Amino acid sequence: MAKEPPGQKKARRQVTTLEFVAMKQRGERIAMLTAYDYLMAGLVDEAGVDCVLVGDSLGQVVAGEDSTLPVTLDQMIYHAKAVHRGLERALLVVDMPFLTYQISAEEAIRNCGRVLQETGAQAVKLEGGHAEIARTIRRLVDSGIPVMGHLGLTPQSVHKLGGYRLVGRAEDEQQRLLADAARLVDAGCFSIVLEMLPRGLAGTITRSVPIPTIGIGAGPECDGQVLVLPDMLGLNEGFSPGFLKRYAGLATSVREAVGAYVRDVKEGNYPGPEHSYE
Ligand code: KIV
Repeated sequence: MAKEPPGQKKARRQVTTLEFVAMKQRGERIAMLTAYDYLMAGLVDEAGVDCVLVGDSLGQVVAGEDSTLPVTLDQMIYHAKAVHRGLERALLVVDMPFLTYQISAEEAIRNCGRVLQETGAQAVKLEGGHAEIARTIRRLVDSGIPVMGHLGLTPQSVHKLGGYRLVGRAEDEQQRLLADAARLVDAGCFSIVLEMLPRGLAGTITRSVPIPTIGIGAGPECDGQVLVLPDMLGLNEGFSPGFLKRYAGLATSVREAVGAYVRDVKEGNYPGPEHSYE
């Protein structure tokens, strides 16, 4: 990775939560991706993303779990620290895992505060927009902890939703989502992820709030877009929802590279003299 030596870093402007809102005001679209480790964080930062999310999707794409529910706070902190070391410019947001913010506002402040203190992240992301979550978000923001909201398909509620599905086709769901978005704005969120919503509804919500919306499976009318990095790099071949665009086929590249290595070792072609020491 082309990084300047310590002490000689180029003066690059870091993206802040205030800059996020200013980008919406300027009509500038926001590019966001997940990352879970140091090397990938450095690459996506260098390539120009505005925001990196350490998503609790790591439960599935790093640990092979069926859902995000088993992910712990200590796991999130471990990965967020690694990602933080790889970033120079992008805003770093960390997902708060299941049951770290739902029990009480006090527990939420303690847990979110730990994330900011121990990882270097600038913000946390919480799922949901009902009144109780909004009260907790208000307390967090008043404590100096910036919060990104998350509405629509909220994966920590997968069992309540009855599966990973589009949310917001029914009229009552649409009204609830619009009310939730307004509540998150009032609570002080600097941005909201909209996951798996019909594009028209995502557009209506986007136009109704002064903070940026970041879509995933929510169409082109959001202020920005987020994807899960292994999905968009083509590493997670088993996951191919309609909204996903794959920008590389890394699973094929990995299989080909490892296959070539195995053949070389078996056939005695590697290591050769040029890879040996006198
Ligand atoms: O966990 C995650 O990666 C997320 C994104 C899908 C927004 O929440």
